[in-house]
Amino acid sequence: MKSFIPLTLLFLVAGSFAKPLPAGKPKPVSSKVFSELQLYAKYSVVAYRDQQECIKPLNNTAVARYDNKSTQAILVRDDKRKEFVLAFRGTEPTKGDGDCSIDAQICKTPLAIPGVTGSDLQVHTGFQKAWKYVSPDVILSLKKELKSKPTFSLVVTGHSLGGAIAALASLEIKTAFPKLNLRLFSYAIGAPRVGNLSFAKKLQSIVGISNIFRGVNQQDPVSFMPPLLLGYRHFPNEYWQFKEPASYQNVVMCQYGEDKDETTDKDCNNTPVIVNPLNVKQHSMLFGIKTGNSSTQYCGGGK
Ligand SMILES: *[C@@H]1O[C@H](CO)[C@@H](O)[C@H](O)[C@H]1NC(C)=O
Ligand SMILES: *[C@@H]1O[C@H](CO)[C@@H](O)[C@H](O)[C@H]1NC(C)=O
Ligand SMILES: *[C@@H]1O[C@H](CO)[C@@H](O)[C@H](O)[C@H]1NC(C)=O
Ligand SMILES: *[C@@H]1O[C@H](CO)[C@@H](O)[C@H](O)[C@H]1NC(C)=O
Repeated sequence: MKSFIPLTLLFLVAGSFAKPLPAGKPKPVSSKVFSELQLYAKYSVVAYRDQQECIKPLNNTAVARYDNKSTQAILVRDDKRKEFVLAFRGTEPTKGDGDCSIDAQICKTPLAIPGVTGSDLQVHTGFQKAWKYVSPDVILSLKKELKSKPTFSLVVTGHSLGGAIAALASLEIKTAFPKLNLRLFSYAIGAPRVGNLSFAKKLQSIVGISNIFRGVNQQDPVSFMPPLLLGYRHFPNEYWQFKEPASYQNVVMCQYGEDKDETTDKDCNNTPVIVNPLNVKQHSMLFGIKTGNSSTQYCGGGK
């Protein structure tokens, strides 16, 4: 995404190479999980389209749309799968979004999610701000929708910045609706790191590690942002597509977070490697789905 380029350039180093599977024990991924990774990647594409263009997202019913300042999201109801899908757009930041613009800055701020307490929970200021723009509306409409469909589950998803917002949204929603069966598909196809280790652990404990699917494509540069040096840590589980073509055989699941430092952690994607930040292809494609694209191919009855 163009919005990530300036930050990425900070880490401009030459070259990029295929790396071997890291130490630790990455697990194989089933074709079922792989097709779910593809499904929710499609929703994160849908989140880029507006209402007129996307009437029936993946042939399902759009029940709500949110649009405030730089944040856009869509809530879709899938009656076949008995679930709602909340998808965040990987937003272009708005100029003048405050002291820390949405993703061009790396400043951290204390987590401010109602009902979530704990010491030293720090998150990226801009990501939290982006979630706050729509959080009251999202919580309100979920309350309403879940009243009529109390057995439905919820998937929260997003690509790039949308993936970062999805993580914060999951934490707040799961806290507000503790009985809700919630899964988070955060597409690190640039989902940048969201907060510090305390935050990552809090997310894991509240949402549940087995409900977290953080997809990464090879050495997508955005997944290395903001850097570990600044105290940011990814959360598991990571689903790492380690090579092309996209197939379940080329994806592994890593249960490790980033507890330690850059050289010792066992996170699949984040083994020490020289990243080519200009590798935008790996940022715009994941599990075979083109992301951040203006395509309307998943819009059902829309154009
Ligand atoms: C939506 O339904 C149409 C007509 O049945 C079908 O051709 C299309 O493939 C469906 N799209 C998706 C994304 O499922
Ligand atoms: C948009 O965000 C601002 C800042 O967080 C908030 O004050 C305002 O109420 C929001 N508007 C809507 C419609 O949610
Ligand atoms: C974030 O969390 C880690 C681990 O609990 C902690 O050591 C660190 O000081 C925290 N704060 C910041 C600002 O990163
Ligand atoms: C998006 O996808 C459409 C259809 O597949 C393609 O024509 C277009 O070039 C793509 N745009 C970008 C920016 O990748």
